[in-house]
Amino acid sequence: MKIGIDKIGFYTPHLYVDMNKLADARKVEPEKFIIGIGQEKMSVPPITQDAVTMAANAALEILEESDREKIDYVIFATESGIDHSKAAAIYVHRLLGINPNARSIEVKEACYGATAAIHIAKGHIALNPESKVLVLGSDISRYGLNTSGEVTQGAGAVAILMSANPRIIAIEDPSAYHTEDVMDFWRPLYSNVAFVQGKYSVELYISFFQNVWEQYKKKTGLELKDFESFCFHLPYTRLGLKALKTVIDEGAEEEQERLLANFELSRSYNKVVGNIYTGSLYLSLLSLLELNTDIKAGARIGLFSYGSGAVGEFFSGIVEPDYRDFLYVERHGKLLSSRREVCISEYEEIFQETSLADISGKKFPIEKDPAVICLAGVKDHMREYVYKCNEI
Ligand code: CAA
Repeated sequence: MKIGIDKIGFYTPHLYVDMNKLADARKVEPEKFIIGIGQEKMSVPPITQDAVTMAANAALEILEESDREKIDYVIFATESGIDHSKAAAIYVHRLLGINPNARSIEVKEACYGATAAIHIAKGHIALNPESKVLVLGSDISRYGLNTSGEVTQGAGAVAILMSANPRIIAIEDPSAYHTEDVMDFWRPLYSNVAFVQGKYSVELYISFFQNVWEQYKKKTGLELKDFESFCFHLPYTRLGLKALKTVIDEGAEEEQERLLANFELSRSYNKVVGNIYTGSLYLSLLSLLELNTDIKAGARIGLFSYGSGAVGEFFSGIVEPDYRDFLYVERHGKLLSSRREVCISEYEEIFQETSLADISGKKFPIEKDPAVICLAGVKDHMREYVYKCNEI
């Protein structure tokens, strides 16, 4: 039985910063951010968006009534959750009116969380072929103003509907994974910004990629030539290119050209959204599938997932016939092109406002946020989410 991705939704907030202007403000050559890091814009989350609202907005675009009835598992992957105890999945379950006879949980392993969720979903569907599982990957990447990680911030969510006989990509069985206890990037419970050893994290990312790629080849007998494209977790888009270049010589010239051309398409959305942590790999997959109109059914896509701390995994998926009919290309193009640019001082104000540890008792201006689902305020330490026109 094939199991995999039946639909993919995406959401990013309506505000962004232009990296040329961030570079000017930080007295850095713009080429460093645009070419050296590979980022052109980064989404800025207003106070009315958090991990829950972004995930719910991403899922809203893909779910039909029949999906809501069949989903019996909601798995929310995040490293910017809103509660140490209650799972963010439960809020989304309610906001979207999903079948009450469902499991709802939150999973965490940095940017690897959504990949773990996909494999949990696959196992669940193998045992329960009629089930559908909603996997959510939603994060706000925050390093702080004037830090070296600032250029690699961003915000957004992906919503993935996993099912048997999927219509976009069937996930293949062999998979290679690796865990090591390392401190490259982490966020202690008392901090709302990440701590990072930047250069070390880059070294680890690349060495984990090489490790799991070698393992994967041994397990499967597959080689570079068997892949239409590789998609990477993209904390900043140049890093995926660096990783790809470490193995590209394994292919003939024609394969190298194909993989490099597809890599460019696979980083297009990530370049203008920024790091969305656990959803990043799947945003890259979406970018590839939506922007390359020539990918044929049966093509194999390699997926490299990396979560600091650290866990890495390389696995693959086979593109299904008619997959393009189940993508939302125009809607995503509009979502990205209709965002409003904020100047650096407005971005800094929003950053400070969204850094407050205790926001209890506050109400937020949801009328300024075009998203359907917003955070309206916090009362008695309880978050109040609003489904516009239909307060829940
Ligand atoms: N024109 C073109 N390129 C330029 C340039 C210019 N004028 N000026 C500099 N560059 C290049 C540099 O040569 C360098 O390229 P190489 O990587 O090929 O050497 C690149 O721009 C970046 O320059 P620096 O290394 O000097 O940049 P930095 O010291 O400011 O740090 C960073 C970069 C380490 C990525 C930092 O932004 C950071 O810490 N980011 C957060 C951590 C991160 O994203 N780590 C990734 C792996 S961890 C992970 O994957 C999990 C996750 O999501 C966080």
